[in-house]
Amino acid sequence: LENGFLSIIVLGASGDLAKKKTFPALFNLFRQGFLHPKEVHIFGYARTKITDDELRDRIRGYLIRDKGASSKDSEDVTKFLQLIKYVSGSYDAEEGFQLLDKEISKHEVSKNSAEGSSRRLFYLALPPSVYPSVCKMIRHFCMNKTDLGGWTRIVVEKPFGKDLQSAEELSSQIGELFDERQIYRIDHYLGKELVQNLLVLRFANRFFLPLWNRDNIDNVQIVFREDFGTEGRGGYFDQYGIIRDIIQNHLLQVLCLVAMEKPVSLKPEHIRDEKVKVLQSVLPIKDDEVALGQYDGYRDDPTVPDNSNTPTFATMVLRIHNERWEGVPFILKAGKALNSRKAEIRVQFKDVPGDIFKCKKQGRNEFVIRLQPSEAMYMKLTVKQPGLEMSTVQSELDLSYGQRYQGVTIPEAYERLILDTIRGDQQHFVRRDELKAAWEIFTPLLHRIDDGELNPLPYKPGSRGPEAADELLAKAGYVQTHGY
Ligand code: BG6
Repeated sequence: LENGFLSIIVLGASGDLAKKKTFPALFNLFRQGFLHPKEVHIFGYARTKITDDELRDRIRGYLIRDKGASSKDSEDVTKFLQLIKYVSGSYDAEEGFQLLDKEISKHEVSKNSAEGSSRRLFYLALPPSVYPSVCKMIRHFCMNKTDLGGWTRIVVEKPFGKDLQSAEELSSQIGELFDERQIYRIDHYLGKELVQNLLVLRFANRFFLPLWNRDNIDNVQIVFREDFGTEGRGGYFDQYGIIRDIIQNHLLQVLCLVAMEKPVSLKPEHIRDEKVKVLQSVLPIKDDEVALGQYDGYRDDPTVPDNSNTPTFATMVLRIHNERWEGVPFILKAGKALNSRKAEIRVQFKDVPGDIFKCKKQGRNEFVIRLQPSEAMYMKLTVKQPGLEMSTVQSELDLSYGQRYQGVTIPEAYERLILDTIRGDQQHFVRRDELKAAWEIFTPLLHRIDDGELNPLPYKPGSRGPEAADELLAKAGYVQTHGY
């Protein structure tokens, strides 16, 4: 990391995101030596009037992931918490931000920043409604001030708007205050190990290069399932629904990495250029290629209106109009309160022409990348059943990370992404034109749902979702394989 003083300012410090994700990620970076007490200070900012110690007490319980903390763990926790200072203030009043700036500057001076640059990272763990005012306050009162270089960067979290228009408004408001190179839009799926592996897999392996196209691939599925509902955050969720919460961002980002052409280089702009091209090639989604669901009991949540038609489940087919993918359905599927918790990519290959083994019924070649839990990738393929008979069976070439990389801790997505923001690497962040293109794909569909023209079908919690979704899958050409 560069020399000089680094201030990390977590706005919305007493909220859920900060407690559950931001501070634990910072703690892990601290433990790995990336945040050195001599150079780094962390500030929490929120409206609640509490002391430094009260904030530390609120965070403490979230820092150690595994149960049974050792004494070394507790020591690290104490040292880390000492780095955190709290400033209270509102999100639109000058005084709060002036005070914040004063505190940051005080620490910069105390840590002798004259020897290096001052770097200020503002992490907005806040609802987007306050982004514009907070960004304005930062721009006016809290920018880094040394002449010796350094920077000010802003990290924002989805939801970035609710549709194309609101997203564009938000982008322009922030864009007037900060340069695109200062804005880091987090999609935490881009920080997941197996999502980051996609580029390597695709472009560093001869196996895949000639096969990755419409001549060989029949369909691609990108699936997100959770086995719990929206309890505790029904109020937020009901405003957005599963398409805005998961599909428009997390699954679409994965789709880009699966479908994009080879970038000119690994430079962030080259990679993001290719992702934008994929998004711009997606055709309008057809009503008869969408299946929506809402689980029974969703509306029992007191924060959800009794007549809500917000989908908690959706399956849809995206079609990419280009030379590589024409005719190959990309099936995106996401749901809450389903039978399992899993996120995976399933690339299903076409049947072997002139099948002399009559093994078609056993299933197709399929390449599965399991993002979570238990990161793995495996290829389903047909082999001879061991024994005297010449019969075939479907088996797997299996790379399970738990076995292959025993003892290796896979970093949390947020940890990686925060480190990237400190390093100034925007590869795994969403660029403004990418965001726009993503909203362009979904906005017409979302408006039809919002207007009640498309309604979700009920499904039982703990099920696979509505049957219509499986029918859509079959129609799109997906052949069920064993174990799916
Ligand atoms: C968030 C969504 O972005 O991702 C949540 O708002 C969802 O609804 C979460 O539960 C899933 O993240 P992960 O990393 O647990 O798959």
